[in-house]
Amino acid sequence: MNLRGRHLLSLDDYSSEEISYLLDLSAELKRMKRSGIRPKNLDGKNIALIFEKPSTRTRCAFVVACVDEGAHPEYLGKSDIQLGKKETVADTARVLGRMFDAIQFRGFKHETVVGLAKHAGVPVWNGLTDKYHPTQVLADFLTVQEQFGHLKGITFAYIGDGRNNMANTLLIGAAKMGMDFRIVAPKSLFPEDEIVELGNKFAKESGAKITLTEDVKKGVKDCDVLYTDVWASMGEEAEMQTRIKLLKPYQIDMNMVKATGKENPIFLHCLPAFHNNDTEYSKEIGAMEVSEEVFESRYSKVFDQAENRMHTIKAVMVATLGK
Ligand code: CP
Ligand code: NVA
Repeated sequence: MNLRGRHLLSLDDYSSEEISYLLDLSAELKRMKRSGIRPKNLDGKNIALIFEKPSTRTRCAFVVACVDEGAHPEYLGKSDIQLGKKETVADTARVLGRMFDAIQFRGFKHETVVGLAKHAGVPVWNGLTDKYHPTQVLADFLTVQEQFGHLKGITFAYIGDGRNNMANTLLIGAAKMGMDFRIVAPKSLFPEDEIVELGNKFAKESGAKITLTEDVKKGVKDCDVLYTDVWASMGEEAEMQTRIKLLKPYQIDMNMVKATGKENPIFLHCLPAFHNNDTEYSKEIGAMEVSEEVFESRYSKVFDQAENRMHTIKAVMVATLGK
């Protein structure tokens, strides 16, 4: 399969075969790294990493993957460049495109990453926008594939803020890959119609099933995967108190894990997570979207998932830019 020169802005524009190819390549690159093989598929490439928002996993995954494959990563933080402030997205894209072989963007507006892709003349990868987080979902699906051996037919519930970047991207990815996918959330946090319509369109082609429900018991029944994310995403901090009230019944705890009725369901979270009171943000309220008990349980695969960010991001770079 040839993905050379392609952007990765959203999973919308990747077919299920292309997603499977990226997952298989990720697994292969993971095996190679573990055997000490570094093929240097990106030898001599220069990669710009633009970050308007903070990041631990995405930034580190890109940097380590670049260095493993022989590329040079250049971190451009929010106060380092003129993007959108003193210079247009189009001009920044054309300048960076003359110097770099590819660009990663993490930030607020999805239109910014679309604008960069339109004008840069080199591959642009979305490292999270308010709308989508496609490199995360590749890591999530690799983790599911490692645990269950396949994606088609997997029963997958996303519980919590059903209209954020994670919910949107998982819905589209699950629809493409033929899963039985549920959004379990209060109605006011159901995904936007545009996302549901896209999901239903892909579901028709793949045999996937998409359900939106407020009912936790019904939503998690028979699920192989329980997934959640923070209740207020980056940029929505002012919403935190309202969300805590609204989403309290949607915390993933042991009762919810048992309500799946499965012996070995898995718990996933893109991280960072509020699972105890050991962070500045959670010191008063304690665990939010997931209980400490579930987070630290045998069901939790969140650190495999975090590691897989690196292998999947490496696969995206190698496939779209490699030799
Ligand atoms: N999951 C994720 O994107 O983590 P970071 O915000 O640390 O990059
Ligand atoms: N929905 C979260 C995901 C973090 C990886 C956010 O945008 O803050």
